[in-house]
Amino acid sequence: MAHPVTEEQVLNALKTVKDPDLHRDIVSLGFVKDLKIENGTVCFNFELTTPACPVKDQMKQECEVKIRQLPGVSKVEIKMSAQVKGRAGFEKAAVLPGVRNVIAIASGKGGVGKSTVCANLALALASSGAKVGLLDCDIYGPSMPLMFGLVGQQPHVSADQKIIPLDAHGIKLMSIGFLARENSPVIWRGPMVHQILQQFLTRVEWGDLDYLMLDLPPGTGDAQLTLTQSAALSGAVIVTTPQEVSLIDARKGLQMFQKVNVPVLGLIENMSYFSCPDCGKVVDIFRSGGGEKMAKELSVPLLGQIPIDPVVSETGDQGLPIVAAHPDSTTAKIYGIIAGAIAAQMSIANMQSSAGDIDIKWETSKS
Ligand SMILES: Nc1ncnc2c1ncn2[C@@H]1O[C@H](COP(=O)(O)OP(=O)(O)OP(=O)(O)O)[C@@H](O)[C@H]1O
Ligand SMILES: [Mg+2]
Repeated sequence: MAHPVTEEQVLNALKTVKDPDLHRDIVSLGFVKDLKIENGTVCFNFELTTPACPVKDQMKQECEVKIRQLPGVSKVEIKMSAQVKGRAGFEKAAVLPGVRNVIAIASGKGGVGKSTVCANLALALASSGAKVGLLDCDIYGPSMPLMFGLVGQQPHVSADQKIIPLDAHGIKLMSIGFLARENSPVIWRGPMVHQILQQFLTRVEWGDLDYLMLDLPPGTGDAQLTLTQSAALSGAVIVTTPQEVSLIDARKGLQMFQKVNVPVLGLIENMSYFSCPDCGKVVDIFRSGGGEKMAKELSVPLLGQIPIDPVVSETGDQGLPIVAAHPDSTTAKIYGIIAGAIAAQMSIANMQSSAGDIDIKWETSKS
């Protein structure tokens, strides 16, 4: 009879499995938990940094194959779980404690689909198993109440004056649209925008969240200033369209985040192409390659391309974003892939920033 497999052999095999995003092996990343070996059965808990990990199935399969190759192994049982890592010191942060990652969805230009993208990405992250919130930071033109079919709803205020966010398909949602009276034009001056957003950050009971998605108004105005200065942002994603020729606006947005050391996780190209529902033929309505070119010029990853899909705007107007209304549609699946890419980039950025705390490279001084 073959010798029973040892823990060391299993760990050595698992050390050859690399996380393709984080570029390190899963043992040194601390993903392998509660390893047990009993009568030839190897079982362990594979703890990822995000439930939306785009390569989880691939890594799990690789582990199975590698452990099975070891002598004396008859069965492999891997339990997948996730513990989302957060920005440094999030538990004790003055702003948004308990929120592990705050991700802003921004754009240089208006009308590129930020709010639609933000709502669908939040839903896609939530459907992967993450705890998600969405804060509509567009004080002048909030779109979330309509997009989630919650027009006229008001948040509950607790006895200790905390605002309880609304529940929208499992997402915690807050918008100025829930506080302002319907049909009243919302005209706020800069300092008021600042105050309202501060209240959203400090008075709303967000609780324990893996990702808080922020839907920003276009450009680089008051809301962006408040949010970047409040130092609560973990990452930013820029939405563009293929016909957006102005690199200047996108670059301005990028620099705004970079100036305050907020990592730009990447670029999403929205309304990229049209896929004919009858014949499946892909038509580039606008020039193609705009997003790719922009991502290259700005040196950020292109996280994905979302097609022009009439169902996207239909469902948006009907109060149920496409990811919730038609989760099996091609467009909803594309949102799922992009959500995974964002979660992966966020894990990478968090890992780099925590590595930066201990891995200081000193310049050698010339004598
Ligand atoms: N991929 C898509 N296919 C079809 N329609 C889309 C798509 N993405 C967004 N839209 C539609 O485009 C319009 C603008 O989208 P949205 O309001 O999300 O843009 P925005 O960037 O948030 O705008 P603003 O700058 O005013 O905040 C909406 O009617 C929306 O339904
Ligand atoms: Mg918007």
